[in-house]
Amino acid sequence: MHHLLKRAAADLAAAQNVVALTGAGISTESGIPPFRGKGGLWERFDLMEIAHIDVLRGDPAKVWRILVKEMKEIVDQARPNDGHKGLVKLEELGLLKTVITQNVDGLHQMAGNTDVIEFHGTFAWQRCMDCHQRVETHKVDMTEIPPRCECKGILRPDVVFFGELIPPHHLWRSRQVAADCDVMLVVGTSAIVQPAALMPVIAKNSGAKVIEINPESTPLTHQISDYLILGRAGEVMNRILAELEQVIR
Ligand code: APR
Repeated sequence: MHHLLKRAAADLAAAQNVVALTGAGISTESGIPPFRGKGGLWERFDLMEIAHIDVLRGDPAKVWRILVKEMKEIVDQARPNDGHKGLVKLEELGLLKTVITQNVDGLHQMAGNTDVIEFHGTFAWQRCMDCHQRVETHKVDMTEIPPRCECKGILRPDVVFFGELIPPHHLWRSRQVAADCDVMLVVGTSAIVQPAALMPVIAKNSGAKVIEINPESTPLTHQISDYLILGRAGEVMNRILAELEQVIR
């Protein structure tokens, strides 16, 4: 792996416009379980039974009981890890411009990245299913499930459920930054869910280098990525930054 760390440091040092695409894997070291693979949420729940908009509309209490147990308590306690902090350091070095994240945990903003596209929305906000008013999750009384808006409408997380569209402005801007970047760091995503997993393809087709950081290979690895650094985000980011300091000094 060592030579790939040097290669990544050289590619990043030579870059004018780095964009990161992140997934649940970058937050696992903050205590938030991933969706797929060992320990993943979908090992214990049927994806289409709790994360599909039709189920939320049909039985909001059921979705909320699982979401609150599985998401709210964990997200409330989670803090950025070295993977998130490494991306902030790349922004401070003037290399990284934008993070496109599939995560809804808000950890990139908490770590300090200033341009974060929340491709699948955010769990930090709730939206009323009747009047569409938004309210911050931490201000919502969760003793009553499902939680309700002042108008008595049912609140739902401001995240993109399966069966829903990616917010058009997020989709449009993500395609734009993916097409404009010269390096895309793809960190902690299984690259299965579309259209998020299309962003590295757009970057590649626009001439960018695509670098994956993941303990496992993904569908991108052999067709799109220039190379995969096998490892956990926190450790790999720390080691890339250590190599980068040698190059930039
Ligand atoms: N560092 C880097 N990568 C990691 C780490 C780690 N410490 N731990 C796990 N991974 C990798 C796994 O190997 C896997 O490839 O992170 C990836 C996690 O994949 P998923 O759980 O599928 O998460 P993600 O790709 O973000 O899922 C996309 O699917 O369920 C929907 O909306 C949800 O945004 C989510 C989308």
